[in-house]
Amino acid sequence: MFKLPPLPYPENALEPAISQTTMATHYGKHHATYIKNLNAALAEKPDTPASLEEVVRSAAKEKGPLFNNAAQAWNHAFFWNALSPESQQPSGELKSALDRDLKTFNDDFVDAGLKQFGSGWAWLVSDTSGKLSIKKTHDAETPITDAGITPLLVCDVWEHAYYLDYKNDRGAFLKTYVEKLANWRFADTQYAAAKNGGKGSWTFPI
Ligand code: FE2
Repeated sequence: MFKLPPLPYPENALEPAISQTTMATHYGKHHATYIKNLNAALAEKPDTPASLEEVVRSAAKEKGPLFNNAAQAWNHAFFWNALSPESQQPSGELKSALDRDLKTFNDDFVDAGLKQFGSGWAWLVSDTSGKLSIKKTHDAETPITDAGITPLLVCDVWEHAYYLDYKNDRGAFLKTYVEKLANWRFADTQYAAAKNGGKGSWTFPI
């Protein structure tokens, strides 16, 4: 059985960029439901998995309800950590890598999220050599199923993530994310892990 992990900050900590009402629904209803459905799907399986990452990766080929709920449970928990109540900027090694690989990161990240047709996620990821790229995924899909790829940041672009606060303006939400909400200190830790073959990267709490 997997549990809904506690938020790393109070529900109202991201206001006004993300309202408490959005967080209460997004975390307390949507994320909680993915965990509930994940546990229901796992109850039909004979084995008890060691980690949520293992469930996501092993269910990835089927892309059925188990994958969808496991990956959404993981992606959302990662997303809460990729948000910071205090505005941050990239610095140090990661800033140098952004200047090298993604010179117009903010604009390109917003563009990737806008071009994700329907529901999905916009990610900043690194390979094991430290090369950065922007990736968009559809529905529950997640870069942790890609060998040698570690996510550093993510923004949820499902309508439930922004509709109450931004209505249909997904671009405004993405712009707020890259300019004010991105947790660059969390990204620093993930970047160090990426270059260590993924060892030490964030894992879903069990
Ligand atoms: Fe979401």
